[in-house]
Amino acid sequence: MKRSTDCFAAFAYVISILFVVYTCGAIADNLGEGSIDGAFLNDLKNEPNVLDTQKSLLQKAETQCSKDSDCHYAGKCTKRDGELKVCECRTGTSGSLCQDVEGCIANPNMCGNGTDVQCIFDVVREKAICKCDNTSKEFDQTTKTCRVPCEDDDDCGLNGRCSKKFCRCRLGASGDFCENIDQCQSKEVDCGSAPGVICALGEKGQAYCICEYITQGYDYDTKTCKACNCGENYISCKFENGTKTCFCKGSYAQRFSECACKCFFQFIMRKFYAYLF
Ligand SMILES: *[C@@H]1O[C@H](CO)[C@@H](O)[C@H](O)[C@H]1NC(C)=O
Ligand SMILES: *[C@@H]1O[C@H](CO)[C@@H](O)[C@H](O)[C@H]1NC(C)=O
Ligand SMILES: *[C@@H]1O[C@H](CO)[C@@H](O)[C@H](O)[C@H]1NC(C)=O
Repeated sequence: MKRSTDCFAAFAYVISILFVVYTCGAIADNLGEGSIDGAFLNDLKNEPNVLDTQKSLLQKAETQCSKDSDCHYAGKCTKRDGELKVCECRTGTSGSLCQDVEGCIANPNMCGNGTDVQCIFDVVREKAICKCDNTSKEFDQTTKTCRVPCEDDDDCGLNGRCSKKFCRCRLGASGDFCENIDQCQSKEVDCGSAPGVICALGEKGQAYCICEYITQGYDYDTKTCKACNCGENYISCKFENGTKTCFCKGSYAQRFSECACKCFFQFIMRKFYAYLF
């Protein structure tokens, strides 16, 4: 009875030091009968060297389980060598309590460097997987980050497409739904906050400022939207350095303050006829 109480004390103490479950039987086997007493525990507490020596002895002791749930990743707690029960691990896991996932150890960068993801063993598919802490997110293998999955292209707005469960963003856009335009977010392009102003993504990943209404043009000096008209054949109209600048359709170019056919003569004739009639 005395021995089992001592044993229990040692057991609890060892857990508190090593955070691992050791067995009284195994400890006793390794340290010799009756070696666990008050003096030993005091030595253990006071002497780092003794602690190290004892620790290495203890580490040789077989780690024990008492039920299947002590073993991680569906390992089985089975009897071996008479009394001792040890974890029998699934292929792909190891360690005294099957806590080590071999795929995770072999590939430490598998789940990226995020703090919101864990590398674990999927017991159904029998392989290492990356599991996101946030249950509404899934691990995107491409970006190695946890993201909210998409269902179709509509989820990804104008700056991305839904492919293999996640939004793939155009150059210059980011976010689960490509909702962030990088240069707008970083204020590298600062469109101000006047009503009707939009910070948009250009073709090469660069951001630009545009107005919500086509009849208005963005003024880069005042960071506001002002009435702007380039005639019929323009794509956008804006003010730069106080001057109206028209971005014209394919075969048109800015002439004076409007988009006109690139052939100047036709343009003059049209104006002339318009003047006459
Ligand atoms: C994490 O990884 C990403 C991309 O692999 C990288 O851009 C970023 O700098 C890394 N962050 C840290 C803290 O290592
Ligand atoms: C999980 O992610 C979603 C989407 O980004 C977010 O709205 C939610 O707050 C997150 N939940 C937690 C607990 O962080
Ligand atoms: C506006 O002025 C700046 C600096 O004076 C110049 O770099 C830029 O090219 C000008 N833009 C236009 C459209 O003239």
